[in-house]
Amino acid sequence: MLRLVQISDTHLSRRKAHFAGNWSPLAAWTAAQRPDFVIHTGDLTIDGADTEDDLVYCAGLLRDLGIPFRVVPGNHDVGDSNHRHQPVSGERLARWTRHFGPDRWVEDAGGWRLVGLDAMLIGSGHPEEAAQFGWAEQVMRDAEGRPIAWFLHRPLFLEAPDEPDTGYWSVRPGPRRDWLALVRHYNVALIASGHLHKAHQCAVAGTRYVWGPSSAFLCGPGVQPEMPGEKRLGAVRYELGEAGDLRAEIVAVPGLAEHWIDDLLEEIYPAHTDTRPAQG
Ligand SMILES: [Fe+2]
Ligand SMILES: [Fe+2]
Repeated sequence: MLRLVQISDTHLSRRKAHFAGNWSPLAAWTAAQRPDFVIHTGDLTIDGADTEDDLVYCAGLLRDLGIPFRVVPGNHDVGDSNHRHQPVSGERLARWTRHFGPDRWVEDAGGWRLVGLDAMLIGSGHPEEAAQFGWAEQVMRDAEGRPIAWFLHRPLFLEAPDEPDTGYWSVRPGPRRDWLALVRHYNVALIASGHLHKAHQCAVAGTRYVWGPSSAFLCGPGVQPEMPGEKRLGAVRYELGEAGDLRAEIVAVPGLAEHWIDDLLEEIYPAHTDTRPAQG
């Protein structure tokens, strides 16, 4: 039995410490679960895309947990595909890699194959986008019958695999089709994401999709459209059995203060950085 904890969207920074108070309770709760791995599904930082110290700070916090951890980058960590001011770039990816290692990874544990993906490359046209897809195909082919779980920041879709473009909130329909073809072909058992700051799980065509909630803040209706899921903070606890059975429980973490980004948006993500539609 493999025990995982997924945490997400911590949005931490020494400079802008608005959500820093939620780290201690999250870290204490995570340690108490005694997981084999902690997996952070991105937006570790307030602005690692432009502020290297945010990456340094968050890497230190994760190391201090004393638990093996794996992370995938979010839009606030490495920039986003086609973002006007913070496009994902070689320079941003190199900074990420310096502090967290590669933005994509594979880990075999407890009979499972865990795969971390950089969702910020998807749809970017950056040379690493095609390289990542080719790598993922290979990693799927080489799974040798292990059940497979993916971890990525941005979800592949919000409500249905064939839905139209949801813009900022999920992967664009074009690349989504390619990634879903891999999901189907290789029977990916679990796809865990962050980014939406909402808690949700569902099963589609035999694949479990889990939206890990943020431990930092929630988004009001003025900044986030209607979509499935619950607006609550927390984390996810997983038990993955060798036979491919899986339990995923989205849980409240004691001691988290409930922040809403709406009141803090100007201060944290000022208009000049043009991340205003990018709260997730
Ligand atoms: Fe995000
Ligand atoms: Fe986020």
